[in-house]
Parts: sequence; structure tokens; C-alpha cells
Amino acid sequence: MKLAVVGGGSTYTPELVDGFARLRDVLPVTELVLVDPDARRLELVGPLARRILARQGHPGRVTWTADLDAGADGADAVLLQLRVGGQAARLQDETWPLECGCVGQETTGAGGLAKALRTVPVVLDIAERVRRRSPGAWIVDFTNPVGIVTRALLAAGHRAVGLCNVAIGFQRKFARLLGVAPGEVALEHTGLNHLTWERSVTVGGRDVLPRLIAEHGDAIAADLRMPRAVMDRLGVVPSYYLRYFYRHDEVVRELRDGPSRAAQVAAMERELLALYADPALDEKPALLEKRGGAFYSEAAVALTASLLRDTGDVQVVNAFNNGTLPFLPDDAVIEVPAAVDARGAHPLPVRPLEPLFAGLVASVTAYEHLALEAALKGGRERVFAALLAHPLVGQLDHADRLTGALLAHNREHLAWA
Ligand code: G6P
Ligand code: MN
Repeated sequence: MKLAVVGGGSTYTPELVDGFARLRDVLPVTELVLVDPDARRLELVGPLARRILARQGHPGRVTWTADLDAGADGADAVLLQLRVGGQAARLQDETWPLECGCVGQETTGAGGLAKALRTVPVVLDIAERVRRRSPGAWIVDFTNPVGIVTRALLAAGHRAVGLCNVAIGFQRKFARLLGVAPGEVALEHTGLNHLTWERSVTVGGRDVLPRLIAEHGDAIAADLRMPRAVMDRLGVVPSYYLRYFYRHDEVVRELRDGPSRAAQVAAMERELLALYADPALDEKPALLEKRGGAFYSEAAVALTASLLRDTGDVQVVNAFNNGTLPFLPDDAVIEVPAAVDARGAHPLPVRPLEPLFAGLVASVTAYEHLALEAALKGGRERVFAALLAHPLVGQLDHADRLTGALLAHNREHLAWA
């Protein structure tokens, strides 16, 4: 089984490789190719990946290359985890929206639109080349913004599934709080990528969400950085990305005053790369746990295994709506539990979504549609329309100003701007 990781020079890669090593019975990887344009990173991350597998007695072969076509050749699955423009571009996304009093974030709001515009054309080009080299390969996309990128891939007819670690993070957390194995916890996770609510949590056929909130509400609220009342009152656990909506003004104040996440991550990356250079290091360093990607290797292994081994088991992924949420278009991409087999991800039926959540899901879906239009076709008016439709922007003046800022900060990445 050959896997290629595009963005393989990422400092996250040791986390992924650690998952391949630990979970070799689920996903027997024989060949792993790290593909990245950054040769220096590959020279640090590639040998460490080899050492991690060797330490755990894993027989898989690890190679690295800047040549996507060679890397993708004969791959069974290709994982996308790239960041166009790196942390420098992320820093911009987190900064200029604040000028209008809007949230500056890498996937949510105006910054997320900038990231989508930079990323969609690059990912579509990669997917096209993968399809030419390995027509049957599955694409597993972690590249943010996952909802819009997955929609672009599926609309272009690619064999793709979008993946995020929010759901698996909740599953692991709830399992710990409840004292059961993670596999026993099933989430009724509903919405769009980075816009979801856990509407029930089932263990042994019983919904334990009310008990979970009653007994562990404070611990969950601390992770969400929202008051526990949001769970007591709504009866659900919102993902921590809902904080950008539910505590918008507070978040904006905080972002204005505090250090940017991009700067923190860039500092961590420098430290991580220095650690990776040590030939004695043969496991993922603890520092990596400070990144947001906890459990992403386990989610990736599980999803890839289900696609390649045709298991039909249920995982939370990003896939075409196809009537699952009847108030959204079929070609919207939603994030829900889905049965995953060799034909792809098939969302399970979803109980009617309460208006309290459905309104936000509908408007962000419309934004994502407009964002994809702007990413595919370019043009100032399309960018403006996407921003105007976004519930965290929504005002003519702000949409206009933010359009100007987005274009000014991203010209080198946007062929049409
Ligand atoms: C979570 C999200 C990812 C995101 C990450 C950011 O894991 O699900 O989509 O990329 O956080 O983490 P970072 O350490 O880069 O801030
Ligand atoms: Mn995510």
C-alpha cells in the first residue's frame, strides 16, 4: 500500500507517521512518499519519519521528493496537508480583518476566504496531476478550509474525502470523561467543517450527552473557552470554532491585544525543526502536542483504511450533502457521520436540524458556495459577494474594505488579482 503526503515537509508529519507506525494493523503502509517543494524541510522531516518507523519495527519504506508526479505515481491514497504561503500568509489572514472589527482567523471569516482563494487552485492542480498518475487513488484532504477545498475537489469529480480532527478530538475527550473506550462513543456531529454541534453522544445505545454536560460541563467548557451555560441552555456541545460566532466581540478584542496564533506556531515550528535535526530523535516530540492537530493521524489512518479496505464503518467526514440536510443544495459539503467504503463516504441520515443551528449552517453554506466561485473564477466582485454573504462580515462597508485588504495582501498568490 503506497501513500503519498503532499505537504510532507510539514512539522505535523511526525504525528502522522507515528500514527502509521502505531496503527499498522489497521493500515499496512508499505511505502510512504513525502512530497514537498521545500527541500530543506524534507531533509529534516524525511529522515525523522524513517527513524520513527524503524524504532517501532515498521517495515515501511519512506522516501521524499519535490516531484509530485513521481510521488503520486502508483499511490493508493494521497493525503493533502499543505499551506499555500506558509505561516506568513496565515499571519496576514489573522491580522487585516481586525481593522474592520472582524475576526481574523485562518479558516473562519474573511481570513478563511483569503486562504480558500489561495488554496483551491493549487489543490485542484495537484488533484488533477494525481488523477493522471494514479486514477484510482483516494484523496484525503486536511487542507483548510476543508469544507470549501473538499467541495472544490468533489465538484471537479475527484475521489476525495475531507477530514478534520474536531470530531475525533471530542470523541476521545468524551471517552476519557466517561471512562469508556473511544470506539464505544458515537457522536451525532452535525454541520459544516468548523461549524458543528454534538447533538447526542451515544454509548451502548444510550444518549449520555445530558449526563456528560451535567457532570463534566466545566471541563468541556474550559476546552471550548466558552461558558458552560452555552451547553446547559442549548443542550448540545458546540465546536470551539463556534466561539468566533457566539463570542465574536470578545474574540476580536482578544485577537487585537494578544499574540497571533501564526506567530506562536511559527516559533514552535522553528523549535520543532531544530529538534528534528537531531539524528538521535526517533519519536514525535512532546512539543507537537501544542499544535491544534491532536489525533489527526488516527483520524487519517481510520479514514484511509476504510476507503482502501472497503470497511463501510462510520466516521465523521466532509462529503457532498446529497439531500442529507434537505435545506442545503446537494452539492454543499457537510461534516457528519458517514459510512465509508471503497466507493467513498456516504452520510448517514440526520435528524431535522433545529432552526437555532440551521440558520447559521445555511448562511455559511451560501458563503462557501460564493467563496468557491471566487476561488475558481476570480474577480473583485466575487470576493465582495462572498464577504457580504458571510454572517461574520455582512455589511457593505466592511465587505468593501476587506475585499481591498484581501486582494492587497494576497496578490502574489492570486493569478487573477
Ligand atoms: C484544529 C483544526 C485544524 C487546524 C488546527 C490549527 O486541529 O481542526 O483544521 O488546522 O486546529 O492548529 P494550529 O496549531 O496550526 O493553530
Ligand atoms: Mn479542522
